[in-house]
Amino acid sequence: MPYSYQQIISCLTASGIPAPDAREEALLLLEAFSHANRVDILCDRHRIYDAPGLDAAVQRRLARYPLQYILGEWAFFGLTFKVNEHCLIPRPDTEILVETAIRTLPQGGVFADLCTGSGCIAISVLKHRPDLTAVALELFDETLALATQNAELHRVSDRFIPLCADLLTSGREALASYAPLCGIVSNPPYIPKADVEALAPELFFEPRAALDGGADGMIFYEKILSDYTDLLSPDAPILFEISYDGAEKMRELGKKHLPHASCEIIRDLGQNPRVATFLHPAAFFGIS
Ligand SMILES: C[S@@+](CC[C@H](N)C(=O)[O-])C[C@H]1O[C@@H](n2cnc3c(N)ncnc32)[C@H](O)[C@@H]1O
Repeated sequence: MPYSYQQIISCLTASGIPAPDAREEALLLLEAFSHANRVDILCDRHRIYDAPGLDAAVQRRLARYPLQYILGEWAFFGLTFKVNEHCLIPRPDTEILVETAIRTLPQGGVFADLCTGSGCIAISVLKHRPDLTAVALELFDETLALATQNAELHRVSDRFIPLCADLLTSGREALASYAPLCGIVSNPPYIPKADVEALAPELFFEPRAALDGGADGMIFYEKILSDYTDLLSPDAPILFEISYDGAEKMRELGKKHLPHASCEIIRDLGQNPRVATFLHPAAFFGIS
């Protein structure tokens, strides 16, 4: 079925997508499928487009299938990443973790990106820090294959080491051969299990394993803080993305597993806690 820009907006808003999002999504769909440019689309909102794949794409979106998977790519930290159903869609919320890592990781070492997904964190850091190498750990082969493709796309694959392992079981041993690490960066699954079902419709299409952080949402953080810190060099930071209500829980975990380290919480422009940093892990070893 052919559509005009205006008709796509009407369909999307009728399906519950807020109007400002629907306008941008309609532009992105038309650009991707009809190869028209947005200026031409906006100049004639009622022009009809009958491009191959457009109708199927609109129908999938009306079923709240994520736009990012329909397009097959998404922007993050100024780069375009390939995405598919095997990965969490990179979120703008995560960019603050990347900024912190770029600023904080010491010179010239190997850092670990635990739970790498599309590889968006490791690859964005590598693009801005040519002195670093990343070991990108991920549970699923298909997800890691996508991250590897993204590393190739962004020409950092010579400094990107994909590592398929389970963070909760074999991950520590698999990572040990790259120690000492100059940092750990991670955006692990952190939604409490009971809350996963109540998420927005689009999230049903994202991998459940990318969201479910166990009963209290803290299982991955706790495993990293309890089992992975001895892989770090003395000046290496641990940098976590956290949920809006995760700051206190993170401080408590820090006190339990790293009683000598200081935990700093970094907030976004809306003052929401987004990143927890353990910046002086030398204290873990009683050095500082
Ligand atoms: C919240 S997503 C983050 C993805 C990516 N780092 C980002 O910020 O977009 C968490 C990732 O952890 C992976 N994962 C889930 N359980 C895991 C496990 N036990 N070991 C390693 N990775 C795991 C998921 O497959 C998913 O790719």
